[in-house]
Amino acid sequence: MLKKLQQRWKVNGLNLVLIITTFALGGSLCGYTGRKLLMLTNLEKGFLWFILYILLITLLWPLCVLLISIPLGQFSFFKRYLIKVWGKMSGSSNNSHYKCNIAIFASGAGSNAQQIIHQFSDSALINISLIVCNKPGAGVLQIAEKAGIPSLLIEKERFFNGDHYLPELRKQHIDFIVLAGFLWKMPAALINAYPKKILNIHPALLPKYGGKGMYGSKVHEAVIAAGETESGITIHFVDELYDHGEIIFQAKCEVTLHDTAETLAQKIHLLEHANYPGVIASVAEKQNRS
Ligand code: GAR
Repeated sequence: MLKKLQQRWKVNGLNLVLIITTFALGGSLCGYTGRKLLMLTNLEKGFLWFILYILLITLLWPLCVLLISIPLGQFSFFKRYLIKVWGKMSGSSNNSHYKCNIAIFASGAGSNAQQIIHQFSDSALINISLIVCNKPGAGVLQIAEKAGIPSLLIEKERFFNGDHYLPELRKQHIDFIVLAGFLWKMPAALINAYPKKILNIHPALLPKYGGKGMYGSKVHEAVIAAGETESGITIHFVDELYDHGEIIFQAKCEVTLHDTAETLAQKIHLLEHANYPGVIASVAEKQNRS
């Protein structure tokens, strides 16, 4: 139960304890203040008193938890939490000010990352909060810098055998992860921390031409060598196997006799840029509300 809450709220153990303490103290403060205010009215305890009490504590509760959250260092969590609850209660989660925070993981030039950043630069719903990269000097790092988005250069040992950079993801309140040409396998701990909240794009029509070592131009060379007349893109949820999780979207393009790995890569990139941001928006929004 506590583990589930930790996953849902994307916080570490200490923060979870502080959040639960805030709920408890905020609730007590709210009940106490509600009773004190009603005493000022000299109302007898009865039906009317009870109705007023319920109304008062409903109004006071958000204020009380926000107040308590300040000394316990949980203000930003509760601010986001209350905005989300309000969005759900008012049935306007689509229009609420709660933004889904996305981290893009990329290893290369970053043309997809660039397109995603551009697409969501004015979005009221999605915030590209972090660029995660495993290659010093990769083009995507310059893209992040230009866009003023924080970037995180990760190391193999910590990513696979350490804390998997979960503290950094939690610090940035990352709700959703998008892989855009990220060539390391995602560790199980990250997949468990973000169930059905990690998307990947693959430059071929999976399940064909996927798996370990199948990335970038290698995929296109294999497609051409096999004499395929069509290729395309696949957007899928990430699971513990390479290029394997549930497929969400595919789009096709023609492969002609004149195509080389380079020309096919150009066609695929066009398809990716045209489709990835839209699929991210619909999936991230849906998953984030669930
Ligand atoms: C993209 O074509 C993406 O599909 C591919 O890497 C390229 C990254 O390009 N991903 C894989 O091959 C994953 N197996 P970009 O850096 O210009 O976005």
